[in-house]
Amino acid sequence: MPTKRLLRSLAGETLSPPPIWLMRQAGRYLPEYRQVRAQAGSFLDLCYSPDFAVEVTHQPIRRYGFDAAILFSDILVVPHALGQTVSFKEGEGPVLTPICSASDLDGLDSLTLLTRLEPVLETVRRLSQTLPSDCTLIGFAGAPWTVATYMIEGGSSKDFVKAKRLMWDQPQVFAKLMDLLTTATETYLSAQVDAGAEVLQIFDTWAGVLPEEYFRRWVIDPMVKLVSNLKAKHPKIKIIGFPKGAGILYRDYVLNTKVDGISLDSGVPLAWAAETLQPLATLQGNIDPILVAVGGEALDKAVDYLKKTLGKGPYIANLGHGIIPSTPPENVDRLVKRLRS
Ligand code: CP3
Repeated sequence: MPTKRLLRSLAGETLSPPPIWLMRQAGRYLPEYRQVRAQAGSFLDLCYSPDFAVEVTHQPIRRYGFDAAILFSDILVVPHALGQTVSFKEGEGPVLTPICSASDLDGLDSLTLLTRLEPVLETVRRLSQTLPSDCTLIGFAGAPWTVATYMIEGGSSKDFVKAKRLMWDQPQVFAKLMDLLTTATETYLSAQVDAGAEVLQIFDTWAGVLPEEYFRRWVIDPMVKLVSNLKAKHPKIKIIGFPKGAGILYRDYVLNTKVDGISLDSGVPLAWAAETLQPLATLQGNIDPILVAVGGEALDKAVDYLKKTLGKGPYIANLGHGIIPSTPPENVDRLVKRLRS
């Protein structure tokens, strides 16, 4: 039996208080993060510098004593390591040279993937040696569909017109990109486990924009493959899926992929999740990140409601999406104390 609280919860144990960590727990809402970020240069330099990346991964653990640390990196290091041009513009977000056609795929090279990601793997190794003994190390990657949207759109998008156009107009090119990403993601996550990651979270932030048929094909199917191949290689690894916006398809996602944990976005009704999903997997979520930025009694109420509705089964307290930069750090303190009281 595992002793770390997050691992116990993912093994199906009901814990009170539940373990807690927050998506984007290392980030711009912390003054100590902003200081390291300024020293590191660009955001990608920060991701590829083990000294800095280890430090910012530790920062929220020191401050709040979270039950898990998530590797500091980004989902877009995968396209970068495959050879796509990726940069992060201040205030704008990611900028990539978009993939538009079959010939653009020829520019991507899976062979150099792990060499290029070696600094991130070194960060994982150092974290597994230096985190507090009760703190679980979470590795992560983006799911193929979400990473593909950034690669095709050339950055963030509101409507995903380019990504969907490629999916429907050039299905073979799209399928080739998705297969390449599924294989690269498996290779990368497997290397993270070898380096010391104890849990893997797979972020499919834009899962919810696909119609049902395509959700099954491009969200569920690649995840089925990832989970079964990773578990065949690493029988003890625990995997958390985050198909944000999946709605009632959350159920089929959990049933088919056999994830150990399922991260709920803030729109998922908790009573429904407790009844439908909790018998199948450990729940994670789903406090609205804006509410953490707002704080006060409304936040206390949300924490109490989370404990009340999910408390009879295994769950991990977290947010429905990443913490936002304007969040006062003392609100996170309030959230953690309320949850643990
Ligand atoms: O959670 C953590 O603390 C670990 C680190 C982490 C980051 N990004 C750091 C980051 C993780 C797990 C991610 C995941 C990620 N990155 C996702 C999936 C989860 C989600 O939030 O939906 C996505 C879609 C990305 C892509 C990405 N990275 C975007 C769109 C942006 C720009 C928007 C923004 O928030 O700035 C980033 C940049 C990014 N990734 C920052 C951090 C701390 C901010 C960059 C900075 O410090 O300047």
